[in-house]
Amino acid sequence: MEEDVKERIDLTRVPNHIAIIMDGNGRWAKEKGHDRLYGHYHGVESVRNILEGCADLNIRYLTLYAFSTENWERPKDEVEGLMELLVDTIRKEVETLNKNNIKLHVIGDIDTLPAFAKNELEEALAETSQNNKFNLILALSYSSRWELVNAVKNIALDVKQGNLQPEDISQDTLQGYLSTSEFPDPELMIRTSGEYRISNFLLYQLAYAELYFTSTRWPDFRKEHLYEAIIDFQNRRRRFGKTDEQLHNQLQESSMH
Ligand code: IPE
Ligand code: IPE
Ligand code: MG
Repeated sequence: MEEDVKERIDLTRVPNHIAIIMDGNGRWAKEKGHDRLYGHYHGVESVRNILEGCADLNIRYLTLYAFSTENWERPKDEVEGLMELLVDTIRKEVETLNKNNIKLHVIGDIDTLPAFAKNELEEALAETSQNNKFNLILALSYSSRWELVNAVKNIALDVKQGNLQPEDISQDTLQGYLSTSEFPDPELMIRTSGEYRISNFLLYQLAYAELYFTSTRWPDFRKEHLYEAIIDFQNRRRRFGKTDEQLHNQLQESSMH
């Protein structure tokens, strides 16, 4: 089944960067008569599977929305459980990341994480810092509005200190102040669990991403679902504001060169 779907993917046109809002763990667990944390635990298996699926297709960047700024408002038990799960998972997975040449990155306000989580994370970042084939970017204590406010503050500081002239501020400047400055923008954004919203995720970076929504809950999401999303992506016409005729001509020109 998985292989059948994979064969339908055009390997020359896979997205370079996929971003995923991993949603639906709580409902998945409740539907099975368990507590929400049970869903989060099972979500880890999906992370492993999808990471492997991305590596198989040579997708260089995978960004996973793991914990939002707003998620701090959840019940204390759930937040604590999630932090422990994070630490546990990272500790167990560093070896696999290194074996597969995957560099771990974090975007988000990691100073708000409990010390034990922050320390573990920093260790994992250091231990995988030499890897250079794939990039796994965890959005942790992340929200786009936090990121943009932070960027504006730092731009203002640089202007104040005379390092930057307001008239020189361009899209590239702003890009350079975002926590994602080292990464290309995602071409495909997937959200699981049947919600049709962005929930404060990469608002600026998703400007021209193709959005894919599926009702599958995150703990059920596997490679074959990822492949379906990629096939859907490959059937979209990405116009970037241009007309179909222009795209057609561009394609002809590039095939002549
Ligand atoms: C996503 O699943 C994981 C996190 C936000 C940490 P949820 O916990 O949001 O699960 P639902 O959406 O309530 O089912
Ligand atoms: C978005 O999911 C955040 C993560 C997946 C980490 P939420 O479950 O927090 O989003 P809302 O509340 O449904 O918008
Ligand atoms: Mg949710």
